[in-house]
Amino acid sequence: MRRLETYYSVFPWHVNHFGSLHGGIYMSWIIDAGGLLMSALSKGNYLLASVDYIYLIRPARIGDLVRIEATATAAWNSSAEIKVKACIKKGDKEELGALSLMTYVAVDEHNRPRRLVTDISHNEEADKRREARLERKIKDSQDPSDLLDGMSFGKYYVRTIYPEHGFSNGILYAGKMYQMLDEALAIVAKLYTKGNVFTAGAGYADFMTPVRIGDILEIQGAIEYTGTTSLDVGAKVFAINHFTGEKRLVTRTVFSFVAIDEKGNPRPIPKLTPATEKEKRIFEEREKERKSRIALSKELQKIETCE
Ligand SMILES: CC(C)(COP(=O)(O)OP(=O)(O)OC[C@H]1O[C@@H](n2cnc3c(N)ncnc32)[C@H](O)[C@@H]1OP(=O)(O)O)[C@@H](O)C(=O)NCCC(=O)NCCS
Repeated sequence: MRRLETYYSVFPWHVNHFGSLHGGIYMSWIIDAGGLLMSALSKGNYLLASVDYIYLIRPARIGDLVRIEATATAAWNSSAEIKVKACIKKGDKEELGALSLMTYVAVDEHNRPRRLVTDISHNEEADKRREARLERKIKDSQDPSDLLDGMSFGKYYVRTIYPEHGFSNGILYAGKMYQMLDEALAIVAKLYTKGNVFTAGAGYADFMTPVRIGDILEIQGAIEYTGTTSLDVGAKVFAINHFTGEKRLVTRTVFSFVAIDEKGNPRPIPKLTPATEKEKRIFEEREKERKSRIALSKELQKIETCE
């Protein structure tokens, strides 16, 4: 099996007060679909190792039916790269709703990588993407410092991880983490822009260490880039063991939001003027990274359809 399809109905408890599917729930459905396919491929436990991107292209609305398609695009010893596409059904037609590329790793009972037996191969392009992921994971893991130091506008979001957030292997389920990230980073965006925001998507994330049930999760979110109506809220996620005080960097990522007015139309936002050396460096890096993230989204939207 290399392809799986699943459906979700958008019910009132999935939407915001505009009647649009919450970004965090949309993302968790995407992660679910990729995970269902990985479960079938690996015939056992797995973990989400990385997200390359999640683009929320069109909002799903209350009453819509969302068809989500997961396709394995490459596999190696223990990992598989899975592309996920969400299509929103509108009568007889379907519109492209969201796109994502993620890598899952098959794991044993100790949550360590185990062999994946599959006939799915990998080509040179996929190998390059894999190398890039492993390189950026090393780079991000080398900076476990707090994000909020030296940033003009940021907030902490702290939660205990309970069994209701976990996977059967005692580890925080990635879909739940994305719901928490979306809530935490949208709060930062709302407070900064003094109004409502829509989630446009998320950039790459590599999951360096599992978050265990009972750990305390700390999400640090800060404004890293502002455009005219959109903004990037960067995040660093930490797992804290309160018995030992040990704090582990779990991931570094970014969410993009668009500020909206009371009619749901984009509205201008205050410009961030980077004040410290750290903020200037992050702003410039984010501007560059964001350009390539948006360019890739536009390219993919020409190729990926829902027919
Ligand atoms: C994913 C994880 C199991 C990898 O463990 P590791 O010790 O780094 O693994 P290794 O270096 O032995 O690599 C094992 C495989 O993982 C892949 N991998 C590791 N990090 C990766 C990343 N960021 N992106 C994609 N693949 C990755 C490697 O390519 C390798 O694949 P292969 O066996 O098919 O060649 C580990 O980093 C982890 O537990 N992370 C947390 C995962 C998690 O909690 N997910 C839920 C998020 S809420």
